[in-house]
Amino acid sequence: SDKPLQDRFGRTVNYVRFSVTDRCDFRCVYCMAEDMTFLPRQQVLTLEEIARLARTFTGLGTEKIRLTGGEPLVRKDILELVREIGGYGLRDFAMTTNGSQLPQMADDLKRAGLHRLNISLDSLDADKFRRITRTGQLSRVLEGIDAAREAGFRGIKLNTVVMKGRNDEEIPALIEFARRKGVDISFIEEMPLGVITEHDRGESFCSSHEVRAIIRRHHELLPATGDSGGPARYYRMPDSDIRVGFISPHSHNFCATCNRVRVTVEGRLLLCLGNEHSVDLRRVLRGNPVSDDRLRQTIINAMDLKPERHHFSSDGDVQILRFMNMTGG
Ligand code: GTP
Ligand code: 5AD
Ligand code: SF4
Repeated sequence: SDKPLQDRFGRTVNYVRFSVTDRCDFRCVYCMAEDMTFLPRQQVLTLEEIARLARTFTGLGTEKIRLTGGEPLVRKDILELVREIGGYGLRDFAMTTNGSQLPQMADDLKRAGLHRLNISLDSLDADKFRRITRTGQLSRVLEGIDAAREAGFRGIKLNTVVMKGRNDEEIPALIEFARRKGVDISFIEEMPLGVITEHDRGESFCSSHEVRAIIRRHHELLPATGDSGGPARYYRMPDSDIRVGFISPHSHNFCATCNRVRVTVEGRLLLCLGNEHSVDLRRVLRGNPVSDDRLRQTIINAMDLKPERHHFSSDGDVQILRFMNMTGG
């Protein structure tokens, strides 16, 4: 309708990420504690509430929506939400998934109007994959990646969180895999979200700089264009069409061009991944009566709370108590 959302620092916010569930069939060491407790259903936004927010944001100039989790595909009736948002005519409509449900869902997601998929893949070795995800099965995810390709998805991207001693020696194999499948791949520095005692983040930290050095033993890396104002910096190789991204919250501050906000699984509008500034949209949604206008105005006003930058550090100190599965990264 009117002018797009803007924050106090002149940044346009036209990208919203919705965490649609805190649940997941995996228990990745960097994301969850082994014995996670999940939210009672009452506290989680209904699919109708999420759709209403998505519609409201779209009316406020949002051009890009991403569904995350937890694992979005374990949410019951998720296809209905995808179908609904798929009808909004967004420039970009994407999902971040662990891939385990893609063998049976990739086709339906494509038909429902989803444009792109980011699929987590931290290892190509079944045992290491199991040690990182605790409950995940590598073969399912590999089938899922193929199902997504066969369903006709373009713009598939693999996400790899790099950890010393867990998967750092697999970087060349992951690159070869991405090249062979013709999909992009992003290597991610681990972020300090949630208290995770079984896994030492200070020890496993692996910088994007180190990852690039390893790749350069095998391939030339040339800067690539097409950054979307997101956290990833992209490179390409001379003999391949795929892009290799690096997400480096510790060494590369992309906050100046940040275009995104998040809605947590409880309906908190979170203005930055690395801070706690938020506004309770669920309370507005469940207020009586709920006017569209009030919802719109709450979102517009919330932009004033978007902080200038995050303050992650790589020494293993936990700064954010919230787990990644509440916000979807
Ligand atoms: P695009 O929509 O294609 O830009 O995807 P993306 O790479 O941003 O999204 P994805 O959900 O695949 O997330 C990949 C990694 O980027 C995850 O580890 C996220 O936590 C991280 N990430 C996404 N947005 C932000 C952000 O605003 N700040 C920080 N520090 N990390 C982010
Ligand atoms: N640090 C960095 N990336 C993380 N992810 C989950 N937890 C973390 C973390 N602590 C990644 C997943 C997935 C994406 C949504 O976020 O691997 O690809
Ligand atoms: Fe599940 Fe993704 Fe968290 Fe792994 S990183 S436990 S797949 S939500």
